[in-house]
Amino acid sequence: MKRYSCSYKYPLRWKILILLLMMWLLTLLKLLNVERFLFPHREIYLVEHFLSTSPYVRNKYGHLRNGIQHEINCSSIYHQDPAETGKSLEIRRKEIIDLDDEDVVAMTSNCLVYRMIRGYHLKPVSQEEENFPLAYSLVVHKDAIMVERLIHAIYSHQNIYCVHYDQKSSSTFKLAMENLVKCFPNIFIASKLEMVEYAHISRLQADLNCLSDLLRSPVAWKYAINLCGQDFPLRSNFELVSELKKLNGGNMLETVNPSSSKRERFTYHYELKKVPYEYMQMPVKTNITKDPPPHNIEVFVGSAYFVLSQAFIQYTFENLLAKDFLSWSKDTFSPDEHFWATLTRVPGIPGEISRTANDITDLQSKTRLVKWNYLEDHLYPPCTGIHLRSVCIYGAAELRWLLNFGHWFANKFDSKVDPVLIKCLAEKLSEQQKEWVDLSSENVFIHRSSADVLL
Ligand SMILES: *[C@@H]1O[C@H](CO)[C@@H](O)[C@H](O)[C@H]1NC(C)=O
Ligand SMILES: *[C@@H]1O[C@H](CO)[C@@H](O)[C@H](O)[C@H]1NC(C)=O
Repeated sequence: MKRYSCSYKYPLRWKILILLLMMWLLTLLKLLNVERFLFPHREIYLVEHFLSTSPYVRNKYGHLRNGIQHEINCSSIYHQDPAETGKSLEIRRKEIIDLDDEDVVAMTSNCLVYRMIRGYHLKPVSQEEENFPLAYSLVVHKDAIMVERLIHAIYSHQNIYCVHYDQKSSSTFKLAMENLVKCFPNIFIASKLEMVEYAHISRLQADLNCLSDLLRSPVAWKYAINLCGQDFPLRSNFELVSELKKLNGGNMLETVNPSSSKRERFTYHYELKKVPYEYMQMPVKTNITKDPPPHNIEVFVGSAYFVLSQAFIQYTFENLLAKDFLSWSKDTFSPDEHFWATLTRVPGIPGEISRTANDITDLQSKTRLVKWNYLEDHLYPPCTGIHLRSVCIYGAAELRWLLNFGHWFANKFDSKVDPVLIKCLAEKLSEQQKEWVDLSSENVFIHRSSADVLL
């Protein structure tokens, strides 16, 4: 008892003294800058070293201008050289700093400078490509620099590109997109913009808005391809054109018979609702059964991503059956994943795939290579990046696998996960483009003249 009373005798005085002592100590540490040694910051890796240390961006890292930047040999990364792959792992341990949306706004504010520093004038084009223009629908919502890299990778002056950004996107992102498209005569923002909600008809509508604009463009494009901001091509424009020619007007997309669980997506009426604990809305199943689809349509499922012929798209916009099917799909779950897969099976549609023909799975369709974690080691080697909701965000050790798999595009890529992979993939594709164009007989180097750069 005595002991206790003793310890309580001057409690306040002691407390104040200890507090003052601690404050003094902290101030001393701060003055001596000890903090840096106690909590060292990770070393910084600039994804765009030249730009980040240049006056063309908002957030400047000029003090790192002469810092050591790992020179990556992409040829060695492709050949899975252990030392070079090790370097990429070392980079991933650093604090990876990429250009943010503000930087992209600044970088694209002067088109002449922007097009020069990104080397758009150096992209070689063959006559074969000139005669086979492509249309792209890009549905994006964030990370402007990844969109910029994607556009740079797929850009060719005879093609036409529609960018649909989400109405919910940040104003800086929107401005970055507006600035970017202003620098090219053949890139534009969709004339109608949606608030895109996960698994909702608005996702499909965003593509339809772009496709409708693309149909009205004067460019006589042969195929339309849709991509999102986390996609990247695995083929140069030259190679893609030669593969598409082999389709002979057919389409390339996944279309399979629905499993019973997938069938639920369009058997019941879904309502857009706020999802608890998630800051988003999504279609939620009700117990109301839907009528069967109109015109005896047999529903097939697949991916939201496609390579579709001009004739097929034209038909989709003009045909009553397609219009009715779109209206019927409005209250289903993820209609983008059954709309195209179903239409391509409709008898008489351009590039029709017979209803009785075998499933075309995501591995058979070359539109999109996606690595699901539960199929790793069975169908493909493990992910060397990280997983996001069961999907692999690729790492540098997968460069060769990606390029050799045979698909035309892949998902997902993120410069914050592995900047080396994206750099090397882009480098490899531009090398292949040069090689093929040089080999083709009548190569013409458009955009080589300085007059074109001023465009
Ligand atoms: C990259 O590595 C390859 C060997 O894999 C070598 O032949 C080439 O010269 C290297 N390139 C550069 C720029 O160092
Ligand atoms: C359908 O769900 C509602 C509530 O969401 C409920 O009141 C109703 O009884 C259900 N009807 C059937 C047939 O289960």
